[in-house]
Amino acid sequence: MSSFDIAIIGSGPGGYVSAIRCAQLGFKTAIIEKYSTLGGTCLNVGCIPSKALLDSSHHYHDAITHFKEHGIDIPGDVKINLEQMIARKQAVVDQTCSGVKFLMDKNKITVFEGLGSFKDATHVDIAKADGTTETIEAKNIIIATGSKPASLPFIKLDKERVITSTEALKLKEIPKHLVIIGGGVIGLELGQVYLRLGAQVSVVEFLDRILPGMDGAISKEMTKILKKQGMKFYTQHKVTAVERKGKEVLVKADDKTGKNVDFTADYCLVAVGRKPYTEGLNLKAAGVKATERGQIDVNEHLQTNVSNIYAIGDVVRGAMLAHKAEEEGAMVAEILAGQKPHIDYNLIPGVVYTWPEVAAVGKTEEELKAAGVEFKAGSFPMRALGRSRASMDTDGFVKILADAKTDEVLGVHMVGARVADLIAEAVTAMEFRASAEDISRMSHAHPTYAEAVKEAALAATDNRALHV
Ligand code: FAD
Ligand code: NAI
Repeated sequence: MSSFDIAIIGSGPGGYVSAIRCAQLGFKTAIIEKYSTLGGTCLNVGCIPSKALLDSSHHYHDAITHFKEHGIDIPGDVKINLEQMIARKQAVVDQTCSGVKFLMDKNKITVFEGLGSFKDATHVDIAKADGTTETIEAKNIIIATGSKPASLPFIKLDKERVITSTEALKLKEIPKHLVIIGGGVIGLELGQVYLRLGAQVSVVEFLDRILPGMDGAISKEMTKILKKQGMKFYTQHKVTAVERKGKEVLVKADDKTGKNVDFTADYCLVAVGRKPYTEGLNLKAAGVKATERGQIDVNEHLQTNVSNIYAIGDVVRGAMLAHKAEEEGAMVAEILAGQKPHIDYNLIPGVVYTWPEVAAVGKTEEELKAAGVEFKAGSFPMRALGRSRASMDTDGFVKILADAKTDEVLGVHMVGARVADLIAEAVTAMEFRASAEDISRMSHAHPTYAEAVKEAALAATDNRALHV
């Protein structure tokens, strides 16, 4: 039987990053993945393929809506080749997943392909595709089994027309009408892909606003922008039934007054969140405790109730984000090496890769009000930047919330071009507990979108933005 210092179950961004860090720290490490490709949800059916399709559809949208104004005439019609678009996405996925395999080999990590299930607290059975089972032993085990799409109890996901994000990433035709249940991150990102490709897109959201966890100003701005782009929103609508009828899907909902509203579509994407995935793990055999929903209980060191077993990423509490899983993966490796790492969960940024992009870190205005914290707010509109006008990306703003007395930055919320990258400045500033004035006194290159961060900081410091 092979023996390891550490065995990791699951090869998503949590698991594979943890494996690399374990190997760097000198541990004999194994990683177990049930699928034939490494990389988990993020690389195979999440972050990477969705961004590939967002980019392709963005190019098409630019070509048909903006090229003319830029002085670029295309003779004839610009056509979509969906098959090629999906094939390019898959090529990006394949290349990225094989990159993870390369990293495993480079770091001398043993990769096992098969379903891992606990035999006891130090042994894992690996059920392989050829029907054989191999058992390995490990002093410490890290559970990184991720999550799967959630649904509603009355919905039958046929995965053809009533679909999850996984199927939406490989459709064979552009929907005529795509109804999306859930106005969260997946709903908006994949909704925008098909909207740009010509589908009618209707988003049915249970709560009173889209992106409900984010700052209210972001929800408001994104509603306005996406409506302008053609997306339709039905907030405060409770879906009551989803029925497949041949090539059609009927989605029934009640609006806030209780009136029934029917949507007839050819595809319905269910995007109401994700649930932790622990099926087949046989947690019982190791004595590991999980909630009824399958979420594994961990302490602040990501240790389960069984002292040599840890859990990270989507399968534990907190944001279901790849970079959060990665930080946790590295943290557990370092704890096992006797180090004292720390994650500030307040400073894990959240990004939505629509165009314009959305990015945020720290507290929202609603959270600060609820906590009774006195704060100042400074905002700066993207349209006031020369850089934004040059690229015609004038939608959005940067909003900085700072403590009323100390001026410490408490939250940064952005909508605009490339804000997914700009948020790193806010994270750095907040990690170093910068004040709004600190940011406002730093030189920001001109002309850049980053100037909006400096201007919003000036607005928050002393209401003295320069260019509005
Ligand atoms: P996962 O990536 O889910 O990996 C878990 C792995 O464990 C899987 O490969 C699974 O097959 C394997 N596994 C499970 N059980 C077993 C078992 N018993 N034995 C062996 N293997 C097992 N996050 C971002 O930060 N940015 C984004 O842009 C982003 N976009 C997304 C887009 C979509 C459409 C979706 C669905 C998600 C997106 N996410 C994004 C979320 C991100 O994918 C997850 O937060 C991230 O993948 C979680 O990483 P993880 O390592 O915890 O789990
Ligand atoms: P989500 O939590 O972002 O959004 C789900 C939405 O569905 C919410 O607005 C919620 O109010 C709504 N909802 C819930 N029940 C409903 C009902 N019965 N009827 C109508 N609406 C309902 O979840 P989503 O979009 O499915 O994404 C899952 C996870 O994947 C998220 O946690 C997210 O962090 C991650 N992800 C991250 C991305 C990124 O970082 N850019 C991209 C895509 C996914």
